[in-house]
Amino acid sequence: MNKSILIIGACGQIGTELTLKLRELYGKNAVIASDIREGSDELMQSGPFEFVNAMEYDSIKNVLETYKVTEVYLMAAMLSATGEKFPDKAWELNMNSLFNVLNLAKEGAIKKLFWPSSIAVFGPTTPKENTPQETVMEPTTVYGISKLAGERWCEYYFNKYGVDVRSIRYPGIISWKTNPGGGTTDYAVEIYHNALLIGKYNSFLNKNTKLPMMYMDDAISATIKIMEAKSENIKIRSSYNLAAMSFTPEEIAAEIKTFLPEFEISYNTDFRQRIAESWPRSIDDSRAREDWGWKHHFDLKKMSENMLNSLHNKYEEL
Ligand code: SER
Repeated sequence: MNKSILIIGACGQIGTELTLKLRELYGKNAVIASDIREGSDELMQSGPFEFVNAMEYDSIKNVLETYKVTEVYLMAAMLSATGEKFPDKAWELNMNSLFNVLNLAKEGAIKKLFWPSSIAVFGPTTPKENTPQETVMEPTTVYGISKLAGERWCEYYFNKYGVDVRSIRYPGIISWKTNPGGGTTDYAVEIYHNALLIGKYNSFLNKNTKLPMMYMDDAISATIKIMEAKSENIKIRSSYNLAAMSFTPEEIAAEIKTFLPEFEISYNTDFRQRIAESWPRSIDDSRAREDWGWKHHFDLKKMSENMLNSLHNKYEEL
């Protein structure tokens, strides 16, 4: 059977670059982008697009049938900071969308499914350094609760119905093409934009708040790698810990200063500080490395250089 891939939430931060990469690998017509809104010009012009509401089972099912879809990546979600403002909506979106695709997979309409989890599944009682794969998980945000519940449901559907679902716990993802929206780790993207545009940044996390982070290129390569791995190598069917680097606002600012010496950072924390403090500072991702050969390529220096160059070029073109 030919591969036919549907990305739900294709216009978001990760969905956009995932769609572009999958189109490069498998051909533009093999990858259907879908979302409730249109995305960037680059995304919209790169291949087929359909309006899909992840909360509506029939809306997904129709597209699966039209395009004879075999694989689905469900990238639609409400993230941690927005989720605290709209707890009911966050729960509804994050859970209903997952149940829709899990049930479609159970019914045989999807052969392989990717669903992202997050470091937000951990909470204040979790060991903070080198957080193990299996540990105490008592998340305090609605987003984290929905991701933890989702992980349990993924494993349940695999064990009970044989659904081939694969998942990773993304750390904060840093990218330049599409902005993140509503996350606690978003500061680490905004800081690069502000550094280039106005030379300063007011951080909503304090200077010592260390969080696990990853550059988009690595996040995309992990996502595709776990989906391409042989099923028997995916030994964890809840979600894999995944890591690349950890840094604080003070450390990322110091790195930016090596490229832009005039850059200045200030700190003014808000409700997101508390969320960040409930999460791990670093992650043990040895299981992903052992089971399906995960490797990261970007550290803070390489990422900063790439971010600043790419954003500089992007602003030049405008
Ligand atoms: N980047 C996400 C957030 O901040 C974590 O998964 O909500």
